[in-house]
Amino acid sequence: MVAINNVRTSNAALKSFPANLVAVFVGGTSGIGLYTARELVRNTTSPHIYLIGRNQTEASKIIQELKTINSASEVSFIQKDVSLLKNVDEACQEIKIKEKQVNLLFMTCGYFVLTGRDETLEGLDKKLALHYYTRMRFINQLQPLLDKAATSNTLSRVVAVLDPQPGLGSAPNLADLDLKKGFSLKSCMTHASSMTNLMFYHLASKNTGTSYVHAFPSVVETGVGRDAFGKWEPLAKPFLWIITKAMEVKPVESGERHLFAATSPTFTPKASSASVEEAAIGSNGVKGSGSYLLNWNNDVLADKAAAKKMRDEGGEKKVSDHTEEVFRKVCEETTLCGHDGKHCISTAKTNMSSSTQGLPEFSLAGKVVIVSGAARGLGLTQAEALLEAGAKVYALDRLPEPSPDFHTIAERAKSSLNTSLTYRQIDVRDVENLNKIVQEIADAEGRLDGLIAAAGIQQETTALDYTAEDANRMFEVNITGVFMSAQAVAKQMIRFGNGGSIVMIASMSGSIANRGLICSAYNASKAGVIQLGRNLASEWGQHNIRVNTISPGYIVTAMVEELFQKFPERRADWPTQNMLGRLSKPTEYRGAAVFLISDASSFMTGADLKMDAGHSAW
Ligand SMILES: NC(=O)c1ccc[n+]([C@@H]2O[C@H](COP(=O)([O-])OP(=O)(O)OC[C@H]3O[C@@H](n4cnc5c(N)ncnc54)[C@H](OP(=O)(O)O)[C@@H]3O)[C@@H](O)[C@H]2O)c1
Repeated sequence: MVAINNVRTSNAALKSFPANLVAVFVGGTSGIGLYTARELVRNTTSPHIYLIGRNQTEASKIIQELKTINSASEVSFIQKDVSLLKNVDEACQEIKIKEKQVNLLFMTCGYFVLTGRDETLEGLDKKLALHYYTRMRFINQLQPLLDKAATSNTLSRVVAVLDPQPGLGSAPNLADLDLKKGFSLKSCMTHASSMTNLMFYHLASKNTGTSYVHAFPSVVETGVGRDAFGKWEPLAKPFLWIITKAMEVKPVESGERHLFAATSPTFTPKASSASVEEAAIGSNGVKGSGSYLLNWNNDVLADKAAAKKMRDEGGEKKVSDHTEEVFRKVCEETTLCGHDGKHCISTAKTNMSSSTQGLPEFSLAGKVVIVSGAARGLGLTQAEALLEAGAKVYALDRLPEPSPDFHTIAERAKSSLNTSLTYRQIDVRDVENLNKIVQEIADAEGRLDGLIAAAGIQQETTALDYTAEDANRMFEVNITGVFMSAQAVAKQMIRFGNGGSIVMIASMSGSIANRGLICSAYNASKAGVIQLGRNLASEWGQHNIRVNTISPGYIVTAMVEELFQKFPERRADWPTQNMLGRLSKPTEYRGAAVFLISDASSFMTGADLKMDAGHSAW
């Protein structure tokens, strides 16, 4: 047993580690993941922690708590149900965009239930997925970042918290590794345990700069059994408490011991084992082999005959091949076909990986974006672009029913983009209900990442004839409506603490007086939007909310076509007023929407993106 004082001394020495250590806690919203994250934050200088889980409310509380423990720490929450490998890829994508390296991947996702096989939409048992496939997929996706940490001579470690012991004592069924045929709670435990042991052995010999630790926590009071007993919980809990009391490890000690497992030089990667005198005995009985199986007290578990036989017979290669085959089927070939509990195979890769694989910063996978004025026209075109980049989009507009095009795009989002476009009717002047709808969306999704405020009106009247009523209506929709939409969304973004991006559609008419177009109030309103963008950016930058405007030039929409019927000379005249000699199409603003909402524009705020073919530069 490693004495707790030695554990504490080792943890305290982490203060001398390089600052900005990056640690990913898959299952950091509760239990051992949380206890360990607390100790990491306490013992390091300015770590960046990623918590991955489903529970936004807990995550928000934990973020505040960790910041109180160490104000120099940065804590981000990625809300995902990682029992789906597709969601694992999305979470990793978010991390890959932001980080150059990952020092620690700490995985505790899982749960304890007494029920039988429960298949996810990807065809894997949920428990086996969370205890094995999900964790291996995280390693598969983040290994390049762990490699970068290894080459810069800092910590590069993976920890899986489960139990290596069942896998030491018995072998998995190689003919049914995913337990499609022979599922039982016991076989699920044995398979998750032995497959982790074997894969860690395999990975440690392949990625020699990273070490892999499979740790048993013993009995720790956590949320792990919250779904296990249903209505029998009041009876079962005291009974369990009596029989497990002797094995109990207190939460703080559990956190300290797991931090030791996650950082102690004893559990060295294979590549540096020669220089680490105190290197522990690895899972194959060789000192410093890079893969380690630990008991609750940080002692290394001794190898057993069944485990050795498995390795001698090439078990790790078989498990590795099987795991890769599952990844290939689920992550590269499978497109989820809806909510009927079944999945279908097509040759398409998942939305996120196919659309922005080469330029990850443009990916909107996993993001939720609201587009106002999206029942038709520019708003709808931009909404479609966001969907293609992976976002889930909510369209707000005042029409009782969106245009027929809307339904076509919504269908495409569902059937081939693996996301959704949802319509909510609201007039942006109805501020109370606007806030209600935005909050409902944020509550349902547990996040809100972006807004494109495209709702606006136009009215051509000479300045001498403009009535106060008409001018007020123009300003109410175009300025106050945009302002209130941005405010409603920003409130939710601040609530979640993840920042976000707000884009407001202005116009080149906000910076010029258009020749031959009589619309003083419209131009004034768009000038107001551009200025509003600068002010909101200055107030909300502290919350990591970016605010920018787009100023389009003339766009040929149905409305403009009607105008050309009335004033045919404009069709010929307008194109002569810009440097490209033509008018634009709504689709020419698709890229701008994705650019501004995504991390591709992460250093841009308070700016106006003028896209007018040089009209206002002439
Ligand atoms: N506690 C013990 O005594 C004990 C003993 C032996 C082994 N273990 C093992 O140790 C590991 C850690 O358990 P724990 O005791 O710390 O449990 P816990 O308190 O229940 O924590 C589990 C974590 O996993 C996350 N999680 C569960 N399902 C998820 C999903 N579908 N998607 C995303 N995240 C998910 C939960 O987050 P959200 O709720 O936010 O999704 C939570 O943060 C588990 O594998 C458990 O089986 C525990």
